[in-house]
Amino acid sequence: MIAMKKSEKKSAKRLSTKPQEAKAWGGRFSQKTDPEVEAFTASIPFDFRLLPYDIAGSLAHARMLARQGILTKTEGRLIEKGLKEIRTKWEQGKLHYTPADEDVHMLVEKRLRKKIGTAGGKLHTARSRNDQVALDLRLFLRDQVRALSRELKTLQENLLATAQKDGGAVLPGYTHLQRAQPVLLAHHLLAYLEMFCRDQVRLSEAWRRINRLPLGSAALAGTTFPIDRRGVAEDLGFDGLAANSMDAVSDRDFVLDCLSAGSILMMHFSRLAEDLILWSSSEFDFIAIDDAFCTGSSIMPQKKNPDVAELVRGKTGRVYGHLMGVLTLMKGLPMTYNRDLQEDKEAVFDALDTIRQSTRLLARMMPRIRFKADRMKEATTAGYLLATDLADYLTTKGLDFRTAHRVVGELVARAIENGKELEALPLSFLREIHPSFGPDVSRWLNLEASLARRNSPGGTAPGRVRKALHAMEKKICRTDYPF
Ligand code: ARG
Repeated sequence: MIAMKKSEKKSAKRLSTKPQEAKAWGGRFSQKTDPEVEAFTASIPFDFRLLPYDIAGSLAHARMLARQGILTKTEGRLIEKGLKEIRTKWEQGKLHYTPADEDVHMLVEKRLRKKIGTAGGKLHTARSRNDQVALDLRLFLRDQVRALSRELKTLQENLLATAQKDGGAVLPGYTHLQRAQPVLLAHHLLAYLEMFCRDQVRLSEAWRRINRLPLGSAALAGTTFPIDRRGVAEDLGFDGLAANSMDAVSDRDFVLDCLSAGSILMMHFSRLAEDLILWSSSEFDFIAIDDAFCTGSSIMPQKKNPDVAELVRGKTGRVYGHLMGVLTLMKGLPMTYNRDLQEDKEAVFDALDTIRQSTRLLARMMPRIRFKADRMKEATTAGYLLATDLADYLTTKGLDFRTAHRVVGELVARAIENGKELEALPLSFLREIHPSFGPDVSRWLNLEASLARRNSPGGTAPGRVRKALHAMEKKICRTDYPF
């Protein structure tokens, strides 16, 4: 701690007679903050986790102030040393706070001033908490989105490995949750992989929009000091500057970008989870999820429940809630910064914690699922899954598709009456319904043939799926962040 000059001691004493001596902004106040107000307005209990980002921003800011001659080199060095010490304390879990510390920004500044005296009070030159908090949140989200993207990539890799290993199984594809047409399991899983590739793009786009420096906007209108925003942007690895100071301090689009990309990702997770939940039921019995990823019932000894998948589905609602919360928070805000904005933090923290946890668990669960190819195939043998093939067959005999559809519809109704599947009907029976049926129909009423014929681009024909798996390997790799 630097010794105070006599004049400083005097002014410190004068200030200390004020009731708000502890508050950095206490100058114009004559009464102490009500303790309940202090607790109500404090963000320190949750923004404490932003501390390393707050310090990183302050370090870059102090270095710039020193470069620009706004601080002396000595002051700059002193500030740098003090900030690093505070960060170390935080890392060691030795930094403590009370609601009176308000938020992470005031806590750091207070500690710094305690450590290094007046030089600490110079750190806030040409800066406001308004641009500071926007910076902290951007730095935090930059890390979070990149980490999420990596975790999602692991999920994609594990899902692809599953599709490659077990994807040859055939199962009913469903519409309206009614058996529709046979598909390869790999095709079904690739559908999710396509969704996740789009999610990756959304995340990287969110990341790019996050990566703009708000600092240097000060409270709202810029600053009178000769600052170097480009230098700070470069120092912190930002792609550029937020162009308008009023926008920079009040915009939370980047938070919404993360929450909306995250909500869509969770929606995809939830759909996958729903499939896994259905498939693990006795009614489907297509998969068995490893015991380590299920839990039991407190009363029913036979139960093994797919809780991870259920909770991923459930937590999706929670993430949507945060998106709605921040959208609602923003909608009526006048320009520029308003304290309401403090409410964005818990939402985005909880959303990202939830999304990342869900991603990691799904990634770990995928390799622990056993796919029951026999059961899947068995399910394709009932439910008239080849009816469309039969209609297609009739069109090759010259019928228009609408007529063919009606003919096969009648045939299905008759088959149901007789309690038979289409493959089990004799040719004479088919010909009674329509004379265009010939002996070659058997080549259409066949599972493998049905799959192979769906050879249109994007279809489930095995050759197509093989190529799609291959293409997916490359698509997954294309998700790199600059740092
Ligand atoms: N804790 C505040 C937040 O999260 C920091 C900014 C406070 N700015 C202010 N002018 N009161 O938004």
